[in-house]
Amino acid sequence: MKNNTRRGFMGKAFGAVAAVGAIGSLVAMKKTWDPLPSVKAAGFTTLDMSVYQENKLAVEKWRGKPIFVLKKTAAMVADQTEIQSVRDIVVDGAHYMVSIGLCTHLGCIPSYNANDKDFLCACHGGKFDYAGEVTKVPPPRGLDIPPFKIEGNTLVLGEKGPEYMKMKETGVTL
Ligand code: FES
Repeated sequence: MKNNTRRGFMGKAFGAVAAVGAIGSLVAMKKTWDPLPSVKAAGFTTLDMSVYQENKLAVEKWRGKPIFVLKKTAAMVADQTEIQSVRDIVVDGAHYMVSIGLCTHLGCIPSYNANDKDFLCACHGGKFDYAGEVTKVPPPRGLDIPPFKIEGNTLVLGEKGPEYMKMKETGVTL
């Protein structure tokens, strides 16, 4: 009887240890399956739009791609045609051209000339204006605009806000 009681106690003790071990293993496995916090955040790039200077191209990064950010001067905004201005991203009253910095022809990175206020793709001579529209072929379309969401004074690349969705629906960007 005594032995049985002892065996019963030992059995329960082993059972408890095994259960704790199993839970520990499950927690460890879940940690392995969960993406790292840095990976979760990797799809998004948050830009503080207050740091950019007018007519000075900044090149940021989103998902490994170069992102052009060009803050327009008041004159640039005033000179724009309707086709150019629909590409503007307006944050806190300032107008920006934000686009994926890859030529839509074969993917070279165009360079910005602040004097002429246009982009030249050296690979095949394609040109884009300061709004990102094509002014000289072979690029088949303007620079693509990445998914974005305006949040106060910041732009979150990788999220699809209403302004971006409108651009998609109206064919301003692919
Ligand atoms: S890759 Fe830009 S013009 Fe060909």
